[in-house]
Amino acid sequence: MGRLQGKIALVTGAAQGIGAGIARAMAREGAAVIAADRNVAGVEALAAEIGAEPLALDVTSEADWAKAAAHIDAAHGKLSILVNNAGVELVKPMTEHSLADWRGLMAVNVDGLFLGCRTFQALLAKGGSAGHPASVINVSSIAGLVGYPDQLAYNTSKGAVRHMTKSLAIEWAAHRLPIRCNSVHPGCIRTPMLEMAVEGWVREGSIPADDPWAAVAALCPLNAVGLPEDIAMGAVYLASDEARFVTGIELVIDGGWVAR
Ligand SMILES: NC(=O)c1ccc[n+]([C@@H]2O[C@H](COP(=O)([O-])OP(=O)(O)OC[C@H]3O[C@@H](n4cnc5c(N)ncnc54)[C@H](O)[C@@H]3O)[C@@H](O)[C@H]2O)c1
Repeated sequence: MGRLQGKIALVTGAAQGIGAGIARAMAREGAAVIAADRNVAGVEALAAEIGAEPLALDVTSEADWAKAAAHIDAAHGKLSILVNNAGVELVKPMTEHSLADWRGLMAVNVDGLFLGCRTFQALLAKGGSAGHPASVINVSSIAGLVGYPDQLAYNTSKGAVRHMTKSLAIEWAAHRLPIRCNSVHPGCIRTPMLEMAVEGWVREGSIPADDPWAAVAALCPLNAVGLPEDIAMGAVYLASDEARFVTGIELVIDGGWVAR
């Protein structure tokens, strides 16, 4: 308890799934959490549950990011932790990806992260110090490390998240800005996003309908499906001063998936 005491954290995509798990864990560890999502009712419910502040934010909107920064500047004057978690998935063969599909996914998974980092750089620099830098955590995926069939846009976007993270880690270090930047790579984590994917696999007959989650678990070396809490614990570490010497890394939390 208290590993994030005194820190101010903004978590995107916090209404459900991994983002909600990270917001819960950071609040529990003492951070003042600003829980942001385009799903306003969802993020208000989560914020009420954990004592966070809800914020309406569509990560694709430059204007929404500017409003968020003005609000946090007025309320706190700095930001210690930015978790770029909001993301969307698309599963279909490349030839069925329309240009609108492609651009829509990139707008959330890639543009959103760029806008967030650019908009908050100045407040993050104020939230960190040389010995205790601020922390940006970008949620990529195992799909940012290895390829999957029928996920060209998603794979590409998560590879971009991985590499933008390294680029920013080095740029901020080179400019002596006290901001660390790391990516987290979840494997199969039970959230509404994965539940939708599993329904699709059942419909197409690639996993059995009687116990689909056992079949998903069996795909993983640890024979388990992860929970948002598993990712949240990694995010808490990266956000905390325990990780003050950690920047530009890929934290893989996947039950051994990409170790094969
Ligand atoms: N669940 C998994 O197995 C898994 C695995 C690897 C990576 N991830 C990544 O983790 C992150 C969270 O995934 P999840 O499984 O919790 O997904 P989810 O779909 O359950 O939740 C995503 C949240 O992001 C929000 N969101 C989507 N677009 C947004 C936008 N434009 N602006 C603001 N909020 C927006 C949604 O409203 C939702 O609350 C994503 O980046 C995803 O790619 C998930």
